[in-house]
Amino acid sequence: MKIFLDTADLSEIRRAADAGLIDGVTTNPSLMAKSAGDADPKDHFLEICNTVDGPVSAEVVALEKDQMVSEGKRLAALHSNIVVKLPLTEDGLRACRALTAEGVKTNVTLCFSASQALLAAKAGATYVSPFVGRLDDISHHGMEVIGQIRQVYDNYGLETEILAASIRHPIHMVESMLQGADCGTLPPKVLYQLIQHPLTDKGLAAFMADWKKLGKEL
Ligand code: G3P
Repeated sequence: MKIFLDTADLSEIRRAADAGLIDGVTTNPSLMAKSAGDADPKDHFLEICNTVDGPVSAEVVALEKDQMVSEGKRLAALHSNIVVKLPLTEDGLRACRALTAEGVKTNVTLCFSASQALLAAKAGATYVSPFVGRLDDISHHGMEVIGQIRQVYDNYGLETEILAASIRHPIHMVESMLQGADCGTLPPKVLYQLIQHPLTDKGLAAFMADWKKLGKEL
């Protein structure tokens, strides 16, 4: 299971990449608006690519196919790690097909159903991003969609990777793994929550206290 960091915050990306915790980064226009500041967005994407050794999803902001393709090509030309993120609309699927034909890697985003995911795979998407948290927000079972997509892709031998997105807490990550997602993208807070367990803290405190009684150094 690949772990991506869902942020455009360079200090968070640096910290997670230095610790060897992440396989890549995903961004979206909202995350860029929060972190890119005055920088040219393209420079910011490039900086992310130079910080993490893995795929970096950079989203187009055009809504019409030809403009999406032009933006996608400009983004892909920035760095070999760039994955062009496209919304799951008719134009987005057309752009996905066109960019795939040119060898550009794509991530079809804002996916909320297995039927949408089927179309993304048929358009040649490298990744599809089902948003589990946003489905939960409207009283649907986000995780069921991950399982359905896994089954559909396996039934028909579709190679698009399932990238569980909109993950809000560690259980989302665990369930995504159990449902067979290929990757999960996490906000920094959830990434560090994955490390934590109260029994780890309790056990470590006991080990340290016992060692102190021994009164020796290593
Ligand atoms: O990057 C897309 C996705 O992960 C957004 O998550 O929490 O805004 O629904 P969220």
